Amino acid sequence: MQKIGLAVMMLLLIWGSVVFLWDAEVAMAKPPERTVETESKIETESGMEPESEREETSEIDWMALIEAEKESEPEAAPKERCLLVNRDNPLPEDYMVDLVETGRQGSRGESRAVAALNLMLKAGEREGLSFVVCSGYRTREEQQVLFLNQIKKKLDEGMGYQDALREASRISAVPGTSEHETGLAFDIVALSYQNLDEGYAETPEAKWLAANAADYGFILRYPKGKEEVTGIIWEPWHYRYVGISIALAVSEGGITLEEYLEEN
Ligand code: DAL
Ligand code: ZN
Repeated sequence: MQKIGLAVMMLLLIWGSVVFLWDAEVAMAKPPERTVETESKIETESGMEPESEREETSEIDWMALIEAEKESEPEAAPKERCLLVNRDNPLPEDYMVDLVETGRQGSRGESRAVAALNLMLKAGEREGLSFVVCSGYRTREEQQVLFLNQIKKKLDEGMGYQDALREASRISAVPGTSEHETGLAFDIVALSYQNLDEGYAETPEAKWLAANAADYGFILRYPKGKEEVTGIIWEPWHYRYVGISIALAVSEGGITLEEYLEEN
């Protein structure tokens, strides 16, 4: 009987030690690493949507994207990262563009430029302005039609062919040399004033863009007084996306893209 009691006590002692050691190990163990899988499990179980689903449904934070652009701009020199397209610098033959819809008047443009465009125009719209994007990306064929129409207009005005060609190319870029073929340029006018003429510059929309576009990475590409440098007439409606740092330098310097790239 004594032997049985001893055996039971021994068994209880062994069992107690096992339970104690088990608890201690669990208490000291590290929490599981938070992998993507565990993260979404945790959130789903706690009633929240997993992160990936939330990203799809929530509105994109364009300001955060622009801030990220400031920080992540490549180290490359401006000349290497900023495309210059003008009568002396035609669009490279192998130029490729990631085109997306702007959601405005059926226009399209390069994806990052479109993101910045909408951020900019929405900011203006919050101040009560109404914009119309009357032109974005153009194919070579579309530019040819516009250019030929411009020549015809000049011929109709009585100009000789050489003069008509020269004058037309100051208004409509020679096909292959238009920034609209890059997807990085947009003609922006006011809902209340849609003529592409100098009168547009007096509208609140044009004034707001002139004052704010650089903050969103855009420059007024063909400014007044710089016609000899750009080869194009003053176009208060034509905005070109170049990224924030170049846009601020161009706008604060009161210079053209040609002049900026010459200096940098
Ligand atoms: N109107 C501008 C210069 C273009 O045709 O690209
Ligand atoms: Zn234009």
